[in-house]
Amino acid sequence: MKSTSEKYGTVAVTIHWLSAVLILAQLGSGFRAASMVDSAAKEAILTFHAPLGIVILVLTIARLLWWKFADRKPDPVAGDPAWQTGAAKAVHVLFYIVIIGMVASGIGMMVASGAGEILSGAVDAPLPDFSKVLPRAPHGLGARLMVGLLVFHAGAALYHHFIKKDGLIWRMWYGAN
Ligand code: HEM
Repeated sequence: MKSTSEKYGTVAVTIHWLSAVLILAQLGSGFRAASMVDSAAKEAILTFHAPLGIVILVLTIARLLWWKFADRKPDPVAGDPAWQTGAAKAVHVLFYIVIIGMVASGIGMMVASGAGEILSGAVDAPLPDFSKVLPRAPHGLGARLMVGLLVFHAGAALYHHFIKKDGLIWRMWYGAN
């Protein structure tokens, strides 16, 4: 269950890959919703997008609690320059900040625009124009920042795998290797 000095444990690996899949689905559904003109179609996507954001938040809180109270990260990769270890750490921290900011601004949009009542079915009306509410701008900015972080993070993993060939990616997978 727990990590060793060499690799991540089952709980950390499961939270990592589950979050990765859900965040990709969240980015895809968010950009899709934002590009839709038809209110009913956008509503269908947002009925999936909004609760999925909450699931991602719960997973992120679980991850933070797991690291704080139950587990220790494996050692930094031996032989990596300090700036790479530092950059990796900074990207991980930024992920947490952006995820929490995305959920906060998403909920903020719902509250400020009244769309929460429409999505829950309590009010029967077309969706409002989200660009009119304040949290829409940070949500759009955070989305782009998240894409940038993902490119950086996955790029670093691929660099280790294909160029340094140090098997780093297997630290974040199941098994004892
Ligand atoms: C990790 C969490 C989240 C991610 C990664 C995410 C991602 C996105 C993305 C990529 C967009 C499109 C942005 C753009 O094109 O500028 C978007 C739009 C949106 N998201 Fe999220 N989101 C998250 C959480 C939430 C939550 C929790 C809610 C609501 C409670 C929410 C509600 C919305 C709404 C209303 C839009 C605007 C659609 C429009 O402009 O028509 N999001 N989101």
